Amino acid sequence: MKDFARFKQLEDLDSESKYLVHKAKEATVTAYAPYSKFHVGAAALLEDGTLVTGSNQENASYPLCLCAERIVLHTCATQHPGKAVKKLAVVAHRKNHKELTMATPCGACRQVMLETEVRQGGPMEIVMLGPAHQWTVCPSAESLLPLAFTPNHLHE
Ligand code: THU
Repeated sequence: MKDFARFKQLEDLDSESKYLVHKAKEATVTAYAPYSKFHVGAAALLEDGTLVTGSNQENASYPLCLCAERIVLHTCATQHPGKAVKKLAVVAHRKNHKELTMATPCGACRQVMLETEVRQGGPMEIVMLGPAHQWTVCPSAESLLPLAFTPNHLHE
């Protein structure tokens, strides 16, 4: 937690992060969340400046619901193979709420973020609206998932 930067106002973030948050917000429009009514948007910035956005997609068979972050990261891997993800922004709001709400990534998404870092051999920053309505910038997925299970465990 000590490495996380926290900001009260979105305006206080660097311009790249602000832009990504804006794009993640736009992506919430495509969320399909009739069950949870929790609309999540994510936006990834790749090393060459490419932007990839996505949103959560739910299903009447609840366990099939897919998080915005994983949709975006898997889209990056399939549509832009070999390009590192530099930064990922995540935002969420409840249906018909204009105000954003806390959007700290779930454990499964943290695990996928971590493996993205392993694959690309470097960290991605993660920007989110964190606790106490503070914009939180984490230096890496690794910082969000201590003592993680990694591909190395399979070979040691
Ligand atoms: N959700 C995400 O998209 N990302 C997260 O990190 C947490 C949860 C989605 C999944 C589901 O559609 C809804 O939010 C409620 O859990």
